[in-house]
Amino acid sequence: MMRINAERLWSTLAMMAQIGGTPAGGVTRLALSDEDRIARNLLRDWALEAGFSCDVDSMGNMFIRRAGKNPTLAPVITGSHVDSQPLGGNYDGIYGVMAGLELLRTLNDNQLETERDIVLVNWTNEEGARFAPAMLASGVWTGQFSEEYAHALADRDGITVGEALDAIGYRGEQPARAFPIHACYELHIEQGPILEDEAIDIGLVRAAMGQRWFTITLDGFAAHAGTTPMHSRRDALTAFAELALKVEAIGYQHEPDGRATIGMANVTPNSRNVVPSRVVCSVEFRHPHSEALDAMEAALYQAAESLTARGVNANVERIFDYAPIAFDAACLARSENAVAGLGYTARPMVSGAGHDTCYVSKIAPASMIFIPCEKGISHNEAENILPEWSEKGANVLLHSVLTAAQEP
Ligand code: HGY
Ligand code: MN
Ligand code: MN
Repeated sequence: MMRINAERLWSTLAMMAQIGGTPAGGVTRLALSDEDRIARNLLRDWALEAGFSCDVDSMGNMFIRRAGKNPTLAPVITGSHVDSQPLGGNYDGIYGVMAGLELLRTLNDNQLETERDIVLVNWTNEEGARFAPAMLASGVWTGQFSEEYAHALADRDGITVGEALDAIGYRGEQPARAFPIHACYELHIEQGPILEDEAIDIGLVRAAMGQRWFTITLDGFAAHAGTTPMHSRRDALTAFAELALKVEAIGYQHEPDGRATIGMANVTPNSRNVVPSRVVCSVEFRHPHSEALDAMEAALYQAAESLTARGVNANVERIFDYAPIAFDAACLARSENAVAGLGYTARPMVSGAGHDTCYVSKIAPASMIFIPCEKGISHNEAENILPEWSEKGANVLLHSVLTAAQEP
């Protein structure tokens, strides 16, 4: 069976890790930042050098196309994301993009002409770290969000997605709207410990958890730290502390699959000797079942309501609702066959992380392939994979995509 060039793939990952590289060895390459622009340009240059075309849509999604014999047939796509978390890891997202490029390069090396075009996609703002919500541009492409809504979203400095796209020269002319696709695959690190713990090569991802993201605004009253007695305070920060523990308890109540996280909190006026008047924080829940997400959301509203006892008003705004999804059986079967042909081990998995391919699965057959990552660490500068894991994942992606691309 054909194999990818593992050294070449590893070298592209090492080069990308330099773009936005942090002193601790991770990466900060936020969506539509200058680091993202540099990485995008490198990806585009590599693609053009290899004879592939590179198109960009109005959300900055990049479509790198290797032509097949029959352009009238719907293409097979594989994609992931170049953007990272702040102080993120060197493999989340970029590994799937580089493995997709390696796949195309390997087909060139073998002078293999496929029936169908194969398109590698870099999806803009998958992480949702700079512009919330996550999976924004794949969401526009698949009709979950309007382009107007997406372009108007602003980061913490008030810069909108539209302005940021223009600033890095990646706002394409063509609208971000899905074209027909035959199948979609995404290769990604597991971002959890299971594959490494069980010494299994490949995760065949059959489903992904649903997510709900909220912005909570807690309003109290600013007061002098020295002259305001404890009983007369309306302290937004201690109210936040109570809310945070209640959100954590909601997560525990829905173990083993439930997740509850507060990743962000901003205090106003954030001064040592002023009782805080306002806290704005994030809350996000995840679970494989919608009914559990409903229960978690209801518990959040109750927790927010209980803060009135502290004289603090908590406003809950849901900004993202993303239902649990099941991936396509035929796509999974191709990957299972690839694993068997390559002699690797595999197990079915459910993804706790969201991915662009989750949205694509709403409009076309899609599935995902996971490789292990060390100790399951991700969204952390210490995120790491082994070269042999990288090679095996890319070979399974190669044969999953190739099988689909040869289908009439
Ligand atoms: O948060 C997620 O699930 C993904 O990493 N964007
Ligand atoms: Mn990712
Ligand atoms: Mn991520």
